[in-house]
Amino acid sequence: MLPHNSLVVFVALTLLSLPANVHSATVSSTVAQTFLGIGGSGAWWPHDLFDFPDSVRQNVSSLLFSESGLGLSSYRYNLGAGGVGVSNPVRAPQTPYVSPGVYNFSADPQGTYFLQQASDFGVPGITMFLNSAPAPLTSNKASCAGQFVTGDGPAYATYIVDVAEHWREAGINISYISAMNEPDSSFGPMPCGQEGMLVEPNQRAEVVSSLWNELNSQGLTSAIGILADETSQTSVAPAEYPDWLPNVGDMVAHLVHHAYDFPSDANYLAYVNAAHAASNGKTTWMSEICCSLGTPAGTGRGYSQGFDPTHVDYINNALMFSGLVFQSFVIGGEAHYDFWTLLSNAIGCEPLSSSTCATTANSNGWTDGMIYYDPDYATNGNHELYLVKHFWTYKHFGNFVKPGTQRHPVTGSDANEYTLVVSNSTTYSVIAMNPNATASTILLTFPETICSTTGFRTSASEDFSTIAKATGSGSSWSLPLSATSLSTYVFNRGVC
Ligand SMILES: *[C@@H]1O[C@H](CO)[C@@H](O)[C@H](O)[C@H]1NC(C)=O
Ligand SMILES: *[C@@H]1O[C@H](CO)[C@@H](O)[C@H](O)[C@H]1NC(C)=O
Ligand SMILES: *[C@@H]1O[C@H](CO)[C@@H](O)[C@H](O)[C@H]1NC(C)=O
Ligand SMILES: *[C@@H]1O[C@H](CO)[C@@H](O)[C@H](O)[C@H]1NC(C)=O
Ligand SMILES: *[C@@H]1O[C@H](CO)[C@@H](O)[C@H](O)[C@H]1NC(C)=O
Repeated sequence: MLPHNSLVVFVALTLLSLPANVHSATVSSTVAQTFLGIGGSGAWWPHDLFDFPDSVRQNVSSLLFSESGLGLSSYRYNLGAGGVGVSNPVRAPQTPYVSPGVYNFSADPQGTYFLQQASDFGVPGITMFLNSAPAPLTSNKASCAGQFVTGDGPAYATYIVDVAEHWREAGINISYISAMNEPDSSFGPMPCGQEGMLVEPNQRAEVVSSLWNELNSQGLTSAIGILADETSQTSVAPAEYPDWLPNVGDMVAHLVHHAYDFPSDANYLAYVNAAHAASNGKTTWMSEICCSLGTPAGTGRGYSQGFDPTHVDYINNALMFSGLVFQSFVIGGEAHYDFWTLLSNAIGCEPLSSSTCATTANSNGWTDGMIYYDPDYATNGNHELYLVKHFWTYKHFGNFVKPGTQRHPVTGSDANEYTLVVSNSTTYSVIAMNPNATASTILLTFPETICSTTGFRTSASEDFSTIAKATGSGSSWSLPLSATSLSTYVFNRGVC
Protein backbone atom coordinates (compact mmCIF):
# COMPACT_ATOMS: atom_id res chain seq x y z
CA MET A 1 0.00 0.00 0.00
CA LEU A 2 1.34 3.42 -0.91
CA PRO A 3 1.75 6.00 1.82
CA HIS A 4 -0.84 8.74 1.51
CA ASN A 5 1.69 11.36 0.44
CA SER A 6 3.03 9.23 -2.41
CA LEU A 7 -0.45 8.82 -3.76
CA VAL A 8 -0.91 12.58 -3.83
CA VAL A 9 2.40 13.00 -5.65
CA PHE A 10 1.49 10.20 -8.06
CA VAL A 11 -1.89 11.78 -8.88
CA ALA A 12 -0.33 15.21 -9.31
CA LEU A 13 2.33 13.84 -11.67
CA THR A 14 -0.31 12.03 -13.68
CA LEU A 15 -2.29 15.24 -14.13
CA LEU A 16 0.83 17.19 -15.02
CA SER A 17 1.85 14.61 -17.56
CA LEU A 18 -1.45 14.89 -19.45
CA PRO A 19 -0.54 16.29 -22.84
CA ALA A 20 -1.30 19.99 -23.10
CA ASN A 21 -3.38 19.43 -26.19
CA VAL A 22 -6.26 17.65 -24.50
CA HIS A 23 -9.42 19.71 -24.71
CA SER A 24 -12.50 19.04 -22.60
CA ALA A 25 -15.95 20.21 -23.62
CA THR A 26 -19.62 19.53 -22.98
CA VAL A 27 -22.24 18.56 -25.55
CA SER A 28 -25.49 20.41 -25.01
CA SER A 29 -28.73 18.50 -24.60
CA THR A 30 -30.59 21.36 -26.26
CA VAL A 31 -30.41 21.16 -30.02
CA ALA A 32 -29.72 24.09 -32.34
CA GLN A 33 -30.55 23.93 -36.05
CA THR A 34 -32.04 20.97 -37.90
CA PHE A 35 -30.04 20.30 -41.03
CA LEU A 36 -31.54 20.49 -44.51
CA GLY A 37 -28.81 19.47 -46.92
CA ILE A 38 -25.22 19.17 -48.10
CA GLY A 39 -24.59 19.54 -51.78
CA GLY A 40 -23.17 21.28 -54.80
CA SER A 41 -23.96 22.39 -58.33
CA GLY A 42 -24.30 20.73 -61.71
CA ALA A 43 -22.39 23.50 -63.48
CA TRP A 44 -20.61 23.29 -65.80
CA TRP A 45 -19.11 19.82 -65.89
CA PRO A 46 -22.27 17.99 -67.10
CA HIS A 47 -21.50 19.41 -70.57
CA ASP A 48 -18.29 17.37 -70.61
CA LEU A 49 -19.09 14.38 -68.43
CA PHE A 50 -22.13 13.56 -70.55
CA ASP A 51 -19.64 12.65 -73.30
CA PHE A 52 -17.69 10.23 -71.10
CA PRO A 53 -18.22 6.45 -71.33
CA ASP A 54 -21.36 5.36 -69.53
CA SER A 55 -19.37 3.45 -66.89
CA VAL A 56 -17.60 6.68 -65.93
CA ARG A 57 -20.84 8.67 -65.87
CA GLN A 58 -22.30 6.05 -63.56
CA ASN A 59 -19.21 6.27 -61.40
CA VAL A 60 -19.58 10.04 -61.18
CA SER A 61 -23.21 9.74 -60.11
CA SER A 62 -22.29 7.18 -57.50
CA LEU A 63 -19.33 9.24 -56.25
CA LEU A 64 -21.62 12.24 -55.81
CA PHE A 65 -24.93 10.80 -54.72
CA SER A 66 -24.44 7.43 -53.01
CA GLU A 67 -23.38 6.84 -49.42
CA SER A 68 -20.25 5.09 -50.63
CA GLY A 69 -19.42 8.44 -52.24
CA LEU A 70 -20.16 11.92 -50.95
CA GLY A 71 -23.75 11.04 -50.07
CA LEU A 72 -24.95 14.48 -51.17
CA SER A 73 -28.47 15.40 -50.08
CA SER A 74 -28.67 18.52 -52.26
CA TYR A 75 -28.10 18.95 -55.99
CA ARG A 76 -28.35 22.22 -57.89
CA TYR A 77 -29.44 21.75 -61.50
CA ASN A 78 -28.42 24.69 -63.69
CA LEU A 79 -31.30 25.58 -66.01
CA GLY A 80 -29.45 27.03 -68.98
CA ALA A 81 -30.11 30.31 -70.75
CA GLY A 82 -28.83 29.17 -74.13
CA GLY A 83 -25.31 30.48 -73.78
CA VAL A 84 -25.81 33.44 -76.14
CA GLY A 85 -22.72 35.63 -75.82
CA VAL A 86 -20.76 33.09 -73.78
CA SER A 87 -17.43 32.19 -75.36
CA ASN A 88 -16.72 29.04 -73.35
CA PRO A 89 -18.99 26.28 -74.75
CA VAL A 90 -18.70 24.28 -71.52
CA ARG A 91 -20.38 27.17 -69.71
CA ALA A 92 -23.11 27.74 -72.30
CA PRO A 93 -25.93 25.30 -71.45
CA GLN A 94 -28.84 25.07 -73.86
CA THR A 95 -32.26 26.26 -72.74
CA PRO A 96 -35.59 24.54 -73.34
CA TYR A 97 -37.10 27.99 -74.01
CA VAL A 98 -38.18 28.41 -77.65
CA SER A 99 -40.85 31.11 -77.38
CA PRO A 100 -43.55 31.94 -74.82
CA GLY A 101 -45.17 28.65 -73.81
CA VAL A 102 -43.15 26.65 -76.35
CA TYR A 103 -40.40 24.42 -75.02
CA ASN A 104 -37.91 21.90 -76.32
CA PHE A 105 -37.33 19.53 -73.45
CA SER A 106 -34.70 17.65 -75.43
CA ALA A 107 -32.43 20.66 -75.06
CA ASP A 108 -29.48 20.42 -72.67
CA PRO A 109 -29.34 16.61 -72.62
CA GLN A 110 -26.12 16.96 -70.56
CA GLY A 111 -27.66 18.88 -67.67
CA THR A 112 -30.88 16.90 -67.63
CA TYR A 113 -28.96 13.60 -67.64
CA PHE A 114 -27.29 14.39 -64.31
CA LEU A 115 -30.52 15.92 -62.97
CA GLN A 116 -32.13 12.55 -63.64
CA GLN A 117 -29.19 10.79 -62.01
CA ALA A 118 -29.55 12.86 -58.83
CA SER A 119 -33.22 11.96 -58.73
CA ASP A 120 -32.58 8.26 -59.45
CA PHE A 121 -30.08 8.14 -56.58
CA GLY A 122 -32.75 9.62 -54.30
CA VAL A 123 -31.15 12.99 -53.60
CA PRO A 124 -33.89 14.56 -51.47
CA GLY A 125 -33.23 18.24 -52.17
CA ILE A 126 -33.11 19.30 -55.81
CA THR A 127 -32.80 22.99 -56.64
CA MET A 128 -33.17 24.45 -60.11
CA PHE A 129 -31.07 27.59 -60.44
CA LEU A 130 -30.59 30.10 -63.26
CA ASN A 131 -27.69 32.40 -63.97
CA SER A 132 -29.74 34.27 -66.57
CA ALA A 133 -33.12 34.33 -68.25
CA PRO A 134 -33.15 32.88 -71.78
CA ALA A 135 -31.67 35.38 -74.20
CA PRO A 136 -35.00 36.57 -75.67
CA LEU A 137 -36.07 37.73 -72.20
CA THR A 138 -33.02 39.84 -71.27
CA SER A 139 -32.23 43.50 -71.96
CA ASN A 140 -29.57 42.71 -74.58
CA LYS A 141 -31.09 39.49 -75.97
CA ALA A 142 -28.07 37.56 -74.75
CA SER A 143 -27.41 35.15 -71.86
CA CYS A 144 -24.86 37.46 -70.24
CA ALA A 145 -23.77 41.09 -70.07
CA GLY A 146 -27.40 42.24 -69.90
CA GLN A 147 -30.03 42.88 -67.32
CA PHE A 148 -33.40 41.65 -66.15
CA VAL A 149 -36.14 43.63 -67.92
CA THR A 150 -38.58 45.25 -65.53
CA GLY A 151 -42.04 43.99 -66.39
CA ASP A 152 -40.79 40.65 -67.75
CA GLY A 153 -41.22 38.94 -64.36
CA PRO A 154 -44.42 37.06 -65.28
CA ALA A 155 -42.96 35.76 -68.56
CA TYR A 156 -39.75 34.70 -66.82
CA ALA A 157 -41.68 33.01 -64.02
CA THR A 158 -44.02 31.17 -66.38
CA TYR A 159 -41.02 29.72 -68.18
CA ILE A 160 -39.27 28.66 -64.97
CA VAL A 161 -42.31 27.06 -63.35
CA ASP A 162 -43.34 25.32 -66.58
CA VAL A 163 -39.88 23.73 -66.75
CA ALA A 164 -39.97 22.71 -63.10
CA GLU A 165 -43.44 21.25 -63.51
CA HIS A 166 -42.32 19.32 -66.59
CA TRP A 167 -39.59 17.61 -64.60
CA ARG A 168 -41.80 17.04 -61.60
CA GLU A 169 -44.31 15.28 -63.84
CA ALA A 170 -41.41 13.15 -65.07
CA GLY A 171 -40.81 12.12 -61.44
CA ILE A 172 -37.98 14.49 -60.57
CA ASN A 173 -38.86 16.36 -57.40
CA ILE A 174 -37.49 19.82 -57.99
CA SER A 175 -38.21 21.32 -54.60
CA TYR A 176 -36.48 24.70 -54.80
CA ILE A 177 -36.09 27.37 -57.47
CA SER A 178 -33.45 30.07 -57.46
CA ALA A 179 -34.19 32.46 -60.34
CA MET A 180 -31.22 34.80 -59.97
CA ASN A 181 -27.87 33.30 -59.16
CA GLU A 182 -25.47 36.14 -58.34
CA PRO A 183 -27.80 38.93 -59.51
CA ASP A 184 -25.16 41.47 -58.58
CA SER A 185 -23.19 40.88 -61.79
CA SER A 186 -24.00 40.57 -65.50
CA PHE A 187 -20.74 38.69 -66.07
CA GLY A 188 -20.13 40.94 -69.08
CA PRO A 189 -18.73 42.25 -71.24
CA MET A 190 -19.28 39.91 -74.15
CA PRO A 191 -17.81 37.54 -75.02
CA CYS A 192 -18.47 36.38 -71.47
CA GLY A 193 -16.85 33.61 -69.48
CA GLN A 194 -20.23 32.39 -68.25
CA GLU A 195 -23.95 33.18 -68.23
CA GLY A 196 -25.16 35.99 -66.00
CA MET A 197 -27.88 38.61 -65.70
CA LEU A 198 -27.79 41.72 -63.60
CA VAL A 199 -30.91 42.07 -61.47
CA GLU A 200 -30.75 45.38 -59.65
CA PRO A 201 -31.76 45.17 -55.99
CA ASN A 202 -34.94 47.12 -56.74
CA GLN A 203 -35.87 44.60 -59.48
CA ARG A 204 -35.53 41.53 -57.30
CA ALA A 205 -38.95 41.79 -55.65
CA GLU A 206 -40.57 41.47 -59.07
CA VAL A 207 -38.65 38.29 -59.77
CA VAL A 208 -39.69 36.77 -56.44
CA SER A 209 -43.33 37.87 -56.53
CA SER A 210 -43.78 36.79 -60.16
CA LEU A 211 -42.37 33.39 -59.31
CA TRP A 212 -44.62 33.09 -56.29
CA ASN A 213 -47.69 34.09 -58.28
CA GLU A 214 -46.89 31.52 -60.96
CA LEU A 215 -46.24 28.76 -58.42
CA ASN A 216 -49.50 29.72 -56.77
CA SER A 217 -51.46 29.57 -60.01
CA GLN A 218 -50.01 26.13 -60.76
CA GLY A 219 -50.74 24.92 -57.20
CA LEU A 220 -47.06 24.46 -56.36
CA THR A 221 -46.34 26.86 -53.49
CA SER A 222 -46.15 24.06 -50.95
CA ALA A 223 -44.12 21.77 -53.24
CA ILE A 224 -41.50 24.27 -54.43
CA GLY A 225 -39.74 26.85 -52.27
CA ILE A 226 -38.23 30.05 -53.59
CA LEU A 227 -34.56 30.69 -52.82
CA ALA A 228 -33.21 34.24 -53.11
CA ASP A 229 -31.08 36.14 -53.80
CA GLU A 230 -27.71 34.33 -53.99
CA THR A 231 -25.72 37.52 -53.71
CA SER A 232 -22.08 36.63 -54.03
CA GLN A 233 -20.84 38.32 -50.86
CA THR A 234 -22.13 38.29 -47.29
CA SER A 235 -20.85 41.85 -46.91
CA VAL A 236 -23.07 43.08 -49.76
CA ALA A 237 -26.36 41.22 -49.23
CA PRO A 238 -27.65 42.97 -46.06
CA ALA A 239 -27.31 46.44 -47.58
CA GLU A 240 -29.49 45.30 -50.50
CA TYR A 241 -32.20 43.50 -48.49
CA PRO A 242 -34.18 46.71 -47.79
CA ASP A 243 -34.50 47.24 -51.56
CA TRP A 244 -36.36 44.03 -52.26
CA LEU A 245 -37.05 41.86 -49.24
CA PRO A 246 -39.68 43.80 -47.24
CA ASN A 247 -42.57 43.15 -49.64
CA VAL A 248 -41.70 39.58 -50.63
CA GLY A 249 -40.09 38.12 -47.50
CA ASP A 250 -43.06 35.80 -46.88
CA MET A 251 -42.69 34.35 -50.38
CA VAL A 252 -39.07 33.29 -49.83
CA ALA A 253 -38.37 29.85 -48.36
CA HIS A 254 -34.76 30.55 -47.40
CA LEU A 255 -32.47 33.54 -47.81
CA VAL A 256 -29.60 32.14 -49.79
CA HIS A 257 -26.15 33.64 -50.09
CA HIS A 258 -22.66 32.93 -51.36
CA ALA A 259 -19.56 33.80 -49.36
CA TYR A 260 -16.96 34.92 -51.86
CA ASP A 261 -15.82 37.63 -49.47
CA PHE A 262 -14.62 34.81 -47.19
CA PRO A 263 -15.84 36.60 -44.05
CA SER A 264 -14.20 36.28 -40.68
CA ASP A 265 -16.25 34.45 -38.05
CA ALA A 266 -17.43 37.77 -36.61
CA ASN A 267 -18.50 39.03 -40.02
CA TYR A 268 -20.23 35.75 -40.87
CA LEU A 269 -22.26 35.97 -37.69
CA ALA A 270 -22.99 39.63 -38.38
CA TYR A 271 -24.33 38.67 -41.81
CA VAL A 272 -26.62 35.97 -40.39
CA ASN A 273 -27.91 38.32 -37.71
CA ALA A 274 -28.54 41.06 -40.27
CA ALA A 275 -30.38 38.63 -42.54
CA HIS A 276 -32.57 37.47 -39.66
CA ALA A 277 -33.32 41.06 -38.70
CA ALA A 278 -34.21 42.01 -42.27
CA SER A 279 -36.55 39.06 -42.78
CA ASN A 280 -38.34 38.35 -39.53
CA GLY A 281 -36.04 35.45 -38.82
CA LYS A 282 -35.83 33.65 -42.16
CA THR A 283 -33.26 30.90 -42.22
CA THR A 284 -30.15 31.53 -44.31
CA TRP A 285 -28.36 29.06 -46.59
CA MET A 286 -24.83 28.98 -47.96
CA SER A 287 -25.28 27.88 -51.55
CA GLU A 288 -22.00 28.44 -53.38
CA ILE A 289 -18.29 28.68 -52.63
CA CYS A 290 -15.01 27.71 -54.25
CA CYS A 291 -11.62 28.99 -55.22
CA SER A 292 -9.54 29.86 -52.22
CA LEU A 293 -6.08 28.98 -51.09
CA GLY A 294 -5.29 29.18 -47.38
CA THR A 295 -4.32 27.11 -44.38
CA PRO A 296 -6.35 24.68 -42.26
CA ALA A 297 -6.87 27.26 -39.50
CA GLY A 298 -8.17 29.71 -42.10
CA THR A 299 -5.41 32.21 -42.74
CA GLY A 300 -4.99 33.18 -46.38
CA ARG A 301 -8.63 32.68 -47.33
CA GLY A 302 -9.81 34.73 -50.32
CA TYR A 303 -11.06 34.32 -53.86
CA SER A 304 -8.08 33.45 -55.99
CA GLN A 305 -6.80 31.31 -58.81
CA GLY A 306 -4.64 28.31 -58.06
CA PHE A 307 -5.22 24.55 -58.05
CA ASP A 308 -4.39 23.32 -54.59
CA PRO A 309 -4.88 19.65 -53.86
CA THR A 310 -1.88 19.90 -51.58
CA HIS A 311 -0.59 23.29 -50.49
CA VAL A 312 2.46 22.13 -48.56
CA ASP A 313 0.81 18.89 -47.60
CA TYR A 314 -1.86 16.74 -49.21
CA ILE A 315 -4.66 17.86 -46.87
CA ASN A 316 -4.21 21.48 -45.87
CA ASN A 317 -6.44 23.23 -48.39
CA ALA A 318 -9.16 20.58 -47.97
CA LEU A 319 -9.15 21.34 -44.23
CA MET A 320 -9.39 25.05 -45.01
CA PHE A 321 -12.58 24.30 -46.98
CA SER A 322 -13.84 22.10 -44.13
CA GLY A 323 -13.30 25.08 -41.86
CA LEU A 324 -15.72 27.04 -44.03
CA VAL A 325 -18.40 24.39 -43.48
CA PHE A 326 -17.81 24.51 -39.72
CA GLN A 327 -18.05 28.30 -39.89
CA SER A 328 -21.45 28.12 -41.60
CA PHE A 329 -22.85 25.46 -39.25
CA VAL A 330 -21.26 26.27 -35.90
CA ILE A 331 -20.72 30.03 -36.09
CA GLY A 332 -23.60 30.92 -38.45
CA GLY A 333 -26.04 28.28 -37.23
CA GLU A 334 -27.02 27.60 -40.85
CA ALA A 335 -28.72 24.41 -41.94
CA HIS A 336 -27.59 23.89 -45.52
CA TYR A 337 -24.30 24.06 -47.38
CA ASP A 338 -23.45 23.77 -51.06
CA PHE A 339 -20.00 23.72 -52.59
CA TRP A 340 -19.80 25.13 -56.12
CA THR A 341 -19.05 22.92 -59.10
CA LEU A 342 -18.22 19.51 -57.55
CA LEU A 343 -16.41 18.43 -60.74
CA SER A 344 -13.91 20.64 -62.53
CA ASN A 345 -11.58 20.63 -65.51
CA ALA A 346 -9.54 23.52 -64.06
CA ILE A 347 -6.73 21.20 -63.03
CA GLY A 348 -4.12 23.56 -64.52
CA CYS A 349 -1.81 20.83 -65.80
CA GLU A 350 -1.76 17.87 -68.15
CA PRO A 351 -2.41 14.65 -66.28
CA LEU A 352 -1.27 12.47 -69.17
CA SER A 353 2.13 14.17 -69.38
CA SER A 354 2.77 14.41 -65.64
CA SER A 355 2.06 11.73 -63.06
CA THR A 356 2.14 14.33 -60.28
CA CYS A 357 -0.17 16.80 -62.05
CA ALA A 358 -3.29 15.87 -60.10
CA THR A 359 -1.55 15.88 -56.73
CA THR A 360 0.67 18.95 -56.99
CA ALA A 361 -0.33 22.57 -56.52
CA ASN A 362 -0.11 24.87 -59.53
CA SER A 363 -1.08 28.46 -60.18
CA ASN A 364 -2.86 27.86 -63.52
CA GLY A 365 -5.81 25.86 -62.22
CA TRP A 366 -8.59 26.59 -59.77
CA THR A 367 -9.62 24.96 -56.51
CA ASP A 368 -13.25 24.58 -57.52
CA GLY A 369 -13.72 20.82 -57.64
CA MET A 370 -13.75 17.67 -55.58
CA ILE A 371 -13.29 15.53 -58.65
CA TYR A 372 -11.17 16.76 -61.55
CA TYR A 373 -11.00 15.59 -65.16
CA ASP A 374 -8.75 16.23 -68.11
CA PRO A 375 -9.82 19.33 -70.07
CA ASP A 376 -8.39 17.67 -73.18
CA TYR A 377 -10.45 14.48 -72.79
CA ALA A 378 -12.14 14.99 -76.17
CA THR A 379 -8.85 14.88 -78.06
CA ASN A 380 -6.69 12.61 -75.93
CA GLY A 381 -9.40 10.19 -74.77
CA ASN A 382 -8.44 10.48 -71.11
CA HIS A 383 -11.59 9.74 -69.09
CA GLU A 384 -9.89 9.30 -65.73
CA LEU A 385 -11.43 10.94 -62.65
CA TYR A 386 -9.02 12.61 -60.23
CA LEU A 387 -10.30 12.80 -56.67
CA VAL A 388 -8.67 15.47 -54.54
CA LYS A 389 -8.61 15.53 -50.74
CA HIS A 390 -11.60 17.88 -50.74
CA PHE A 391 -13.70 14.94 -51.88
CA TRP A 392 -12.80 12.91 -48.80
CA THR A 393 -13.25 15.76 -46.33
CA TYR A 394 -16.63 16.78 -47.78
CA LYS A 395 -17.72 13.13 -47.53
CA HIS A 396 -17.68 13.44 -43.73
CA PHE A 397 -20.36 16.13 -43.96
CA GLY A 398 -22.27 14.47 -46.80
CA ASN A 399 -22.42 11.13 -45.02
CA PHE A 400 -23.29 12.32 -41.53
CA VAL A 401 -24.96 15.74 -41.67
CA LYS A 402 -28.17 14.33 -43.10
CA PRO A 403 -31.41 16.25 -43.54
CA GLY A 404 -33.26 15.97 -40.24
CA THR A 405 -30.18 15.56 -38.07
CA GLN A 406 -29.79 18.24 -35.43
CA ARG A 407 -26.77 20.08 -34.09
CA HIS A 408 -25.87 19.98 -30.42
CA PRO A 409 -23.78 23.01 -29.45
CA VAL A 410 -20.51 22.20 -27.71
CA THR A 411 -19.70 24.41 -24.73
CA GLY A 412 -16.90 25.03 -22.29
CA SER A 413 -13.82 27.25 -22.30
CA ASP A 414 -11.92 24.61 -24.28
CA ALA A 415 -14.57 24.13 -26.98
CA ASN A 416 -13.73 25.22 -30.51
CA GLU A 417 -15.71 25.80 -33.70
CA TYR A 418 -14.24 22.75 -35.39
CA THR A 419 -16.27 20.27 -33.36
CA LEU A 420 -19.67 19.56 -34.91
CA VAL A 421 -22.00 17.23 -33.00
CA VAL A 422 -25.17 16.05 -34.74
CA SER A 423 -27.76 13.51 -33.70
CA ASN A 424 -30.77 11.70 -35.01
CA SER A 425 -33.09 9.40 -33.09
CA THR A 426 -30.57 6.58 -32.88
CA THR A 427 -27.11 8.07 -33.30
CA TYR A 428 -24.68 10.82 -32.35
CA SER A 429 -21.97 11.72 -34.87
CA VAL A 430 -19.06 13.99 -34.01
CA ILE A 431 -17.18 15.56 -36.91
CA ALA A 432 -14.02 17.14 -35.53
CA MET A 433 -11.13 18.83 -37.23
CA ASN A 434 -7.63 19.25 -35.92
CA PRO A 435 -6.03 22.02 -38.01
CA ASN A 436 -2.80 21.82 -36.01
CA ALA A 437 0.38 19.96 -36.85
CA THR A 438 0.34 18.16 -33.49
CA ALA A 439 -2.10 15.49 -32.39
CA SER A 440 -4.70 16.29 -29.79
CA THR A 441 -7.63 14.71 -28.00
CA ILE A 442 -11.06 16.01 -27.18
CA LEU A 443 -12.81 14.74 -24.07
CA LEU A 444 -16.54 15.13 -24.60
CA THR A 445 -19.26 14.85 -21.99
CA PHE A 446 -22.57 14.02 -23.63
CA PRO A 447 -26.01 14.77 -22.17
CA GLU A 448 -26.87 11.07 -22.03
CA THR A 449 -25.35 7.60 -22.00
CA ILE A 450 -24.10 6.61 -25.43
CA CYS A 451 -21.97 3.84 -26.90
CA SER A 452 -19.05 4.32 -29.27
CA THR A 453 -19.40 2.29 -32.47
CA THR A 454 -16.93 3.39 -35.13
CA GLY A 455 -14.78 6.17 -36.55
CA PHE A 456 -13.49 7.50 -39.87
CA ARG A 457 -10.58 9.79 -40.62
CA THR A 458 -9.23 11.81 -43.49
CA SER A 459 -5.65 12.99 -43.08
CA ALA A 460 -2.61 13.49 -45.27
CA SER A 461 -2.30 9.71 -45.59
CA GLU A 462 -5.91 8.57 -45.08
CA ASP A 463 -9.06 8.95 -47.19
CA PHE A 464 -12.08 8.39 -44.95
CA SER A 465 -10.28 5.42 -43.41
CA THR A 466 -11.93 3.42 -40.66
CA ILE A 467 -10.17 4.13 -37.36
CA ALA A 468 -10.47 2.91 -33.79
CA LYS A 469 -13.71 3.99 -32.17
CA ALA A 470 -13.70 6.57 -29.37
CA THR A 471 -12.89 5.22 -25.92
CA GLY A 472 -14.77 5.84 -22.72
CA SER A 473 -18.08 4.88 -21.16
CA GLY A 474 -21.42 6.29 -20.12
CA SER A 475 -21.53 9.91 -21.16
CA SER A 476 -17.75 10.59 -21.20
CA TRP A 477 -15.73 9.82 -24.29
CA SER A 478 -12.23 10.48 -25.55
CA LEU A 479 -11.78 11.28 -29.25
CA PRO A 480 -8.20 11.32 -30.55
CA LEU A 481 -7.53 13.75 -33.39
CA SER A 482 -4.35 13.12 -35.34
CA ALA A 483 -2.38 16.04 -36.75
CA THR A 484 -4.09 17.98 -39.57
CA SER A 485 -7.07 15.68 -39.91
CA LEU A 486 -10.82 15.51 -40.06
CA SER A 487 -12.44 12.68 -38.08
CA THR A 488 -15.95 11.42 -37.54
CA TYR A 489 -16.77 9.39 -34.45
CA VAL A 490 -20.13 7.61 -34.33
CA PHE A 491 -22.08 6.60 -31.21
CA ASN A 492 -25.34 4.76 -30.60
CA ARG A 493 -27.72 6.43 -28.21
CA GLY A 494 -28.03 4.12 -25.20
CA VAL A 495 -25.85 1.77 -23.20
CA CYS A 496 -23.27 -0.46 -24.83
C1 LIG B 1 -34.38 20.36 -79.36
O1 LIG B 1 -33.05 20.33 -78.81
C2 LIG B 1 -32.26 19.26 -79.31
C3 LIG B 1 -30.94 19.25 -78.53
O2 LIG B 1 -30.24 20.41 -78.80
C4 LIG B 1 -32.07 19.44 -80.80
O3 LIG B 1 -31.32 18.36 -81.30
C5 LIG B 1 -33.42 19.50 -81.49
O4 LIG B 1 -33.25 19.80 -82.83
C6 LIG B 1 -34.31 20.56 -80.85
N1 LIG B 1 -35.63 20.47 -81.39
C7 LIG B 1 -36.25 21.52 -81.91
C8 LIG B 1 -37.62 21.25 -82.42
O5 LIG B 1 -35.74 22.63 -81.96
C1 LIG C 1 -41.26 12.95 -54.93
O1 LIG C 1 -42.06 13.44 -53.88
C2 LIG C 1 -43.21 12.65 -53.66
C3 LIG C 1 -44.05 13.37 -52.63
O2 LIG C 1 -43.28 13.76 -51.54
C4 LIG C 1 -42.77 11.27 -53.21
O3 LIG C 1 -43.90 10.45 -53.02
C5 LIG C 1 -41.88 10.65 -54.28
O4 LIG C 1 -41.38 9.42 -53.84
C6 LIG C 1 -40.73 11.58 -54.61
N1 LIG C 1 -40.00 11.02 -55.75
C7 LIG C 1 -38.67 10.92 -55.76
C8 LIG C 1 -38.10 10.37 -57.02
O5 LIG C 1 -37.97 11.25 -54.83
C1 LIG D 1 -14.58 5.52 -59.93
O1 LIG D 1 -13.55 6.50 -60.01
C2 LIG D 1 -12.62 6.41 -58.94
C3 LIG D 1 -11.68 7.60 -59.07
O2 LIG D 1 -11.01 7.57 -60.27
C4 LIG D 1 -11.89 5.08 -59.02
O3 LIG D 1 -10.98 4.97 -57.93
C5 LIG D 1 -12.90 3.96 -58.95
O4 LIG D 1 -12.25 2.73 -59.16
C6 LIG D 1 -13.96 4.13 -60.02
N1 LIG D 1 -15.01 3.14 -59.79
C7 LIG D 1 -15.57 2.47 -60.78
C8 LIG D 1 -16.62 1.50 -60.39
O5 LIG D 1 -15.25 2.65 -61.93
C1 LIG E 1 -29.05 8.07 -37.88
O1 LIG E 1 -27.73 8.34 -38.32
C2 LIG E 1 -26.97 7.17 -38.57
C3 LIG E 1 -25.55 7.62 -38.89
O2 LIG E 1 -25.55 8.51 -39.95
C4 LIG E 1 -27.61 6.36 -39.68
O3 LIG E 1 -26.86 5.19 -39.93
C5 LIG E 1 -29.00 6.01 -39.29
O4 LIG E 1 -29.64 5.35 -40.37
C6 LIG E 1 -29.80 7.25 -38.92
N1 LIG E 1 -31.09 6.84 -38.35
C7 LIG E 1 -32.22 7.40 -38.71
C8 LIG E 1 -33.43 6.92 -38.02
O5 LIG E 1 -32.27 8.27 -39.57
C1 LIG F 1 -5.02 24.01 -32.33
O1 LIG F 1 -4.18 25.01 -31.82
C2 LIG F 1 -4.87 26.14 -31.28
C3 LIG F 1 -3.82 27.19 -30.94
O2 LIG F 1 -2.87 26.64 -30.10
C4 LIG F 1 -5.67 25.69 -30.08
O3 LIG F 1 -6.39 26.78 -29.54
C5 LIG F 1 -6.66 24.63 -30.53
O4 LIG F 1 -7.38 24.14 -29.43
C6 LIG F 1 -5.94 23.48 -31.22
N1 LIG F 1 -6.95 22.58 -31.80
C7 LIG F 1 -6.91 21.26 -31.61
C8 LIG F 1 -8.05 20.50 -32.19
O5 LIG F 1 -6.01 20.70 -31.04
